[in-house]
Amino acid sequence: MTRTERILICCGTGCIANGAYEVARALEEQIAAQGANAQVELKVCRTGCSGECEQGPLVRLMPRDTMYYKVKPADAPAIIASLEGDPVTRLLYRDKQGVRHEHQADNPFYGFQHKVVLKDVGIIDPLSLEEYKAAGGYEGLARALTMTPDEIIDEVERSGLRGKGGAGFPAGRKWRSAASYDVWPKYIVCNGDEGDPGAFMDGSTMEGSPHAVIEGMIIGALAIGAETGVLYIRDEYALAREHIQRAIDDAYDAGILGEHIMGSDHKLNLSIVRGGGAFVCGESTALMNSIEGKVGEPRPKYIRSVQSGLFEKPTVLNNVETLASVPTILAHG
Ligand SMILES: Cc1cc2nc3c(=O)[nH]c(=O)nc-3n(C[C@H](O)[C@H](O)[C@H](O)COP(=O)(O)O)c2cc1C
Ligand code: FES
Repeated sequence: MTRTERILICCGTGCIANGAYEVARALEEQIAAQGANAQVELKVCRTGCSGECEQGPLVRLMPRDTMYYKVKPADAPAIIASLEGDPVTRLLYRDKQGVRHEHQADNPFYGFQHKVVLKDVGIIDPLSLEEYKAAGGYEGLARALTMTPDEIIDEVERSGLRGKGGAGFPAGRKWRSAASYDVWPKYIVCNGDEGDPGAFMDGSTMEGSPHAVIEGMIIGALAIGAETGVLYIRDEYALAREHIQRAIDDAYDAGILGEHIMGSDHKLNLSIVRGGGAFVCGESTALMNSIEGKVGEPRPKYIRSVQSGLFEKPTVLNNVETLASVPTILAHG
């Protein structure tokens, strides 16, 4: 029987800038030059950002968990050879005493992390719906589809999830308010404008685990009764937009989005709107104006978006990270 070994290469924006695509190609060429092996299939997998961008491009061999830093295309032959022998010492993490370490968790940057939203980032191919599902993706949605909107909201409230966009407003309470209005249609909006200089958490999530954002939006839509959703994505985030669009397309093809979510009677259509380019467009009501094609300036604060938001209809607007937290909450309680 053939077993698969995966060579994970970070292809987040930072590592691409450092030559990750060239490294990936060199690894693929090296594998092709070696010819097929009946026992082991080697697969180069382009992943999202692992977080230590200044040490990139990062390459990780799985399942043996060897992590290489600052890899160059010329390192490809040595890396492929190391799959059957000792690791390439010069590419391993070096601690302050100068000692080299092989595994990702040996590096304190990773060793103390417990990832939830980013748990699949750096491990799965963000362009693969199958890989997201194999990692437990869409299990939260499957469970949500067996629940009433109230039960979904109860679960999110009990989790204590608070908005990650800055204000920390309890997500469940926002959803309950929007659900309470008997006005239709309703909307769910994902705030992917990420205007804060030097912030990369939302971009990394959209690039590295786009289905987690979409799954969170679908669950939110079920909770409030929305059938239309918009992802407002910062215009500079070309890679995030590309990955989210691909994930949306694949979710439609798989029957996860569209007229019958996972074969149910629920429907949801999602689309992307490119950010207006101003910092203020990340503010929730300016963002809604921008989606509507108006000047991106905030609306008076006495108007609550859960009652009169996008196109003056009840709207839940949440940050990327808030929404990407929801699938885990629904899957595991
Ligand atoms: C000037 C300004 C800019 C903002 N920019 C962003 C942004 O880029 N991304 C974001 O998620 N929230 C931003 N916010 C906060 C949003 O208005 C809103 O509170 C948040 O997206 C709601 O989502 P949450 O409840 O999930 O945090 C901004 C707020 C202000 C006042
Ligand atoms: S882009 Fe590769 S570690 Fe961040």
